[in-house]
Amino acid sequence: MRVDIITIFPNMFSAVLGESIIKRAQEKGKVKIFVHDLRLYTLDKHHKVDDRPFGGGSGMLLQAEPIFRAVQAIKKKVKGKSKVILLCPQGKIFDQKYAKKLSKCGNLIFICGHYEGVDERVRQYLADEEVSIGDYVLTGGELPAMVLVDSIVRLIPGVLGDKNSLNFESFEGNLLEYPQYSRPAKFRKWIVPEVLVSGAHDKISAWRKSEALKRTRQRRPDLLKRQG
Ligand code: ADE
Repeated sequence: MRVDIITIFPNMFSAVLGESIIKRAQEKGKVKIFVHDLRLYTLDKHHKVDDRPFGGGSGMLLQAEPIFRAVQAIKKKVKGKSKVILLCPQGKIFDQKYAKKLSKCGNLIFICGHYEGVDERVRQYLADEEVSIGDYVLTGGELPAMVLVDSIVRLIPGVLGDKNSLNFESFEGNLLEYPQYSRPAKFRKWIVPEVLVSGAHDKISAWRKSEALKRTRQRRPDLLKRQG
């Protein structure tokens, strides 16, 4: 997979892309991630990327020209089709199912919106999809882009070591995760449920399933009504 991210704050990405599983996924060649500074795609000498909205109003908008130029330059370098995604609060809400769908794409281009928004023509004529990570407003699309990269890259086959870790995690089968414990079996006065130290794998499986269901019913009954 190849991911290209267009942003006016490229430095924000180094910590997230340079650590842990996402770093290892890149080292293993499972994903190539490129961060592009939008200012490098401007035509004027001041590298201006924003302007006031027509009709008045507060704030500044990211202009269409540099964003179109950046996407065009990236598409020229990419082999095959790319999906262009604009991160913005007006987009479709991101979830695990959406992450799975995007993890099957060969090439993704993320546009991080900023300030009061982006010129509508980016939305209309450039973006294939608009994605929001939730009903709250952030200062820009950078954190959302990192959220997408993290959740998508870990789904690429071979990125996580243990195949089972994907099968039994939260949201698989629309269930939250069951409770888990590690050593010691007794910590302060709290003891690990007997069944987990019994070694009876059938009973452990049944217990986990019922705990996952119970937790989902209590905390997120909406998940149980979802299809697929
Ligand atoms: N930009 C600002 N807020 C956002 C959100 N919630 N999701 C995606 N992009 C955003």
